[in-house]
Amino acid sequence: MFSPRLVLKFLSQQDMISAGVTDMDHCIELMDEAFKLLGLGDYVMGGSTRNSHGQRVWFPKEPQFPGMPKGGPDQRFMSLPGYLGGRFKVCGNKWYGSNINNPKNHGLPRSIITMTLNDAETARPLAIMEANILSGMRTGAVVGLSAKYLARDNSETLGVIAAGPISKFCTDAIVKSVPSLKKVVVFDINSDASRSFCEEMSAKCDIDVSMVKSFEEAVINQDIVTSAISGNHAPLFEDKMLKPGSLLTLPGRANVEDNYLRNAYIIPDGWEMQKTYKIEGLMLPEDERIIPHNQLHTLVDNGEIKESEIQDLGKIVAGLANVDKNSDKKKYFISNGMIIQDIAWGMAMYENAVEKGLGQDLVMWEQPYRV
Ligand SMILES: NC(=O)c1ccc[n+]([C@@H]2O[C@H](COP(=O)([O-])OP(=O)(O)OC[C@H]3O[C@@H](n4cnc5c(N)ncnc54)[C@H](O)[C@@H]3O)[C@@H](O)[C@H]2O)c1
Repeated sequence: MFSPRLVLKFLSQQDMISAGVTDMDHCIELMDEAFKLLGLGDYVMGGSTRNSHGQRVWFPKEPQFPGMPKGGPDQRFMSLPGYLGGRFKVCGNKWYGSNINNPKNHGLPRSIITMTLNDAETARPLAIMEANILSGMRTGAVVGLSAKYLARDNSETLGVIAAGPISKFCTDAIVKSVPSLKKVVVFDINSDASRSFCEEMSAKCDIDVSMVKSFEEAVINQDIVTSAISGNHAPLFEDKMLKPGSLLTLPGRANVEDNYLRNAYIIPDGWEMQKTYKIEGLMLPEDERIIPHNQLHTLVDNGEIKESEIQDLGKIVAGLANVDKNSDKKKYFISNGMIIQDIAWGMAMYENAVEKGLGQDLVMWEQPYRV
């Protein structure tokens, strides 16, 4: 019914928790649904290719004005707009800032995230929500989904590189997606972080979790390996370290040997988004360029990897592509995060909040102002 009154919901972090944002099993189900829509093409993201990850505020490396933030690794502001179809039919925008020094200098998380949802037809805002947990959960759930579709049956061991919040979400999701898993090992350059990871994750996941002293120990002989480091020092995954048939699933940056890429199944979250990253990255001055997975683009451009052999996870989920997950061929999954994932999980939280009467109603107007 027509109503000019416009009320939207504000959901605090506590409201999001009460709405179920930490329910990993449910989040993995929603990511399955979102990736199917992605595979079918029922989505639109920002930018002229309709596949941009988002728009970044590029702070200069040497700001000329006092107080202007300085650009650098994991120092950024970013806006991710998009539309998700299916039963969702909603638009969303995730807006976040990241400062790698936040935990040390300000007692705050590295990134601080808010999310807005709008009805796609009328543009009416539905909700503004705290989205730190939401974003971490969907990142982990996507990695869990990759393990569900790509890890060998009966995979028993998981190696985790980095013990930060994203690795915790990923570990929880992988454990939930691979019931045969028996053991998790973690390596972080900060041993205190590894220690608290082990305490937290062994209690949460009810599985044997221990820390190891080197990157190699966390990678060699593991059935599944995941890595979510921050900062500038990405270790190199050598082809020989990774077990035949293993899955390397990456929500963060990593260095891998060319030979590994030449011989592995390459499965991105969205190849069109990865290509857009490159188009947009090339517009920047050379010393500021950030093109995720540029090494993969180079191998594709050189003809060493056929683009036609790159299979999106969404296509696999939708049944439009296939990988032989039990073969000896290694699997390389890369995820940079897509707004459609946040929209799917955000809508589930909004619907739960409405049903449970959570959050604050914000009146935007009783009647829209007319000139
Ligand atoms: N794909 C996505 O959708 C997505 C979403 C959110 C974050 N991320 C990425 O995930 C990464 C991690 O995020 P976070 O919030 O957990 O970061 P964080 O800074 O809180 O934690 C990162 C951890 O990595 C460790 N580390 C750094 N270099 C390392 C190395 N060489 N070896 C082992 N450990 C190392 C650090 O000590 C730290 O404990 C970031 O790079 C972020 O951009 C991806």
